[in-house]
Amino acid sequence: MKFFVDTADVGEIASLAETGLLDGVTTNPSLIAKSGRNFLEVVREIAEIVKGPVSAEVVAMDAPTMLREAEVLRKLARNICIKLPLTMEGLKACKALSDEGVMTNVTLCFSANQALLAAKAGATFVSPFIGRLDDISQDGMELIADIRLIYDNYDFKTEILAASVRHPVHVLAAAKIGADVATMPPAVIRALAGHPLTDKGLAGFAADWEKTGQTIL
Ligand code: G3P
Repeated sequence: MKFFVDTADVGEIASLAETGLLDGVTTNPSLIAKSGRNFLEVVREIAEIVKGPVSAEVVAMDAPTMLREAEVLRKLARNICIKLPLTMEGLKACKALSDEGVMTNVTLCFSANQALLAAKAGATFVSPFIGRLDDISQDGMELIADIRLIYDNYDFKTEILAASVRHPVHVLAAAKIGADVATMPPAVIRALAGHPLTDKGLAGFAADWEKTGQTIL
């Protein structure tokens, strides 16, 4: 499973990139607003830190303008992935970009039929929003499972990018189903490493090592 971080916080991205565990980054207009920074500037910086796909989202509602925005975003770096909404206009723009070999991420996917359309439009990634479905009492993970089944049935190459991930259990469930990618807030990536028994065990080893009076270096 590939790990993307879902943030526009350059400091967080740089710190997580140092672990070597980061395969890409996703941003959206809300995350850009939260960063308080210039969109193009921040995306350019992110794309220098992480070599994998960096999703930058268009904001137009019509395909021709989306394509013009995509032109601007693509020029920022070679690893920019154009993020488009799952609307008919977004799919139209996705098809045009895919035909040109441009990386695309179709976002705001809330149904398996929408995901089917994204695959037919040649999307590199489709982003089903797990947490937002859970928020309205629909099972977000069921959507991931349905998309996995459909994509495997037809051997679609579009990668399932589990988005709107809120906690480690989402990551575990998406990994069991076989989502190709999980994009997570920085805190969720860090939480994956945590376990109270790891902390307890480590404290025990450190205390016992101290008693030996030895050093390795
Ligand atoms: O980037 C899209 C998605 O991950 C947003 O998540 O938590 O705002 O539903 P959330």
